[in-house]
Amino acid sequence: MNFHVMTLFPEMVTQGLSDSIIGRAADRGLVSVHAVNIRDYANNRYRQVDDYPYGGGAGMVIQPQPVYDCYQALAKQIGQKTRVIYLTPQGRVFSQKLAEELAKEEDLIFLCGHYEGVDERVLEEIVTDPISIGDYVLTGGELPAMVMIDCISRLVPGVLHNDLSAEFESFQDNLLEYPQYTRPEEFMGKKVPEILLSGHHANIEKWRREQSVIRTARWRPDLLETAELTEQEKKLAAEIRES
Ligand code: ADE
Repeated sequence: MNFHVMTLFPEMVTQGLSDSIIGRAADRGLVSVHAVNIRDYANNRYRQVDDYPYGGGAGMVIQPQPVYDCYQALAKQIGQKTRVIYLTPQGRVFSQKLAEELAKEEDLIFLCGHYEGVDERVLEEIVTDPISIGDYVLTGGELPAMVMIDCISRLVPGVLHNDLSAEFESFQDNLLEYPQYTRPEEFMGKKVPEILLSGHHANIEKWRREQSVIRTARWRPDLLETAELTEQEKKLAAEIRES
């Protein structure tokens, strides 16, 4: 999976994704993160890429020409039709489901806006997917692009050592993940739930599923509306919500 990021702050993106699991996946050739500076496509000697908004108003707007030229150079390099994601609070809200869909692509292009935004005409020309990472406003699209790249990368086969762990966690089946414990067996007077020491896998699975339902009912009851629960689990969730 190759991520191409059009940005005014390329180091922020490459440095932010150079460590830990994504950094290792890049070293192993499973993903690549290629950040391109939009400013390199400015056609003036001051390398200026923004200007005042027509009609007035606060802030500056990124001009269409450097963004378009940057995109063209990338598109030529990639050589096939590629989805172009524009990070904006006005977009469709990112989710695990959307991450799974995007993880099937070979290449993805991200366009990070700044200031008051990007000239609408170039967005109309190149963007296929306007995406938001949540209903709040950030200063630029770099952090949202990094959030998406992190989330999509871990779905690429081989990136996580344990392929099962990508499947079995929060938001699978629309339930939150069950609680995890490691050594010591007792910490600040609190013992690890007995069942996890029993070695009885079927019972452990049952307990974990129940914990997922309890946790979701308590912390994210909105998710239960689309979760697939047995009648017994529905009863359990209702009890938790009432208590
Ligand atoms: N740019 C600024 N805020 C954003 C958000 N919430 N999601 C995506 N891009 C953004």
